[in-house]
Amino acid sequence: MSLTLEDIVTLFEAKGHEQYDGEPVTQLEHALQSAHQAEQEGAGSALISAALLHDIGHLLHDFGDTPSMKGLDDVHQYRCLPFLRGLFGPATLEPIRLHVDAKRFLCAREPAYHDSLSADSQRSLKLQGGIFDTAQAAAFEALPFAMDAVRLRRWDDGAKAADLAVPGLAHFVRHLERAAAEHRPTARQAA
Ligand SMILES: [Fe+2]
Ligand SMILES: [Fe+2]
Repeated sequence: MSLTLEDIVTLFEAKGHEQYDGEPVTQLEHALQSAHQAEQEGAGSALISAALLHDIGHLLHDFGDTPSMKGLDDVHQYRCLPFLRGLFGPATLEPIRLHVDAKRFLCAREPAYHDSLSADSQRSLKLQGGIFDTAQAAAFEALPFAMDAVRLRRWDDGAKAADLAVPGLAHFVRHLERAAAEHRPTARQAA
């Protein structure tokens, strides 16, 4: 069930042209812009990989381009995990798993954040459970990798620019390879 790195590249090549939830970018452009911001901010390969792959769950179903328009939460933050678990460790998987809850957290802590969200992001927020209450926000904050998920969330929100020039997929595959090797140090030694 787990994808290989080659499968991930193939998936982006086959389905990365799909529109990103009502935004002026494709899924691949959104992934690359997210990973680019992570790299620019000095994140490690595990978190850059999380940024690149955070929405790959959208490419693992056939609900159409914008499920939230149909009142559907595609639970993409969970859908991708079984496919990635064989390759990456928690430093990559947990920020991906938590990136939707990070939006619910930021809306609770920063009211201006909610207003800054795109229309689709506000629509999907309701489907995803809405803004955290105080206790939910505190529980989220205490989770391992919660702050990495918040960083990822801000890159995610900033990765919706039309026609932005960023490095291509091949550049970021190197980070995927590094993150996978960090997760499996014995494989790296054998290589
Ligand atoms: Fe997402
Ligand atoms: Fe995203």
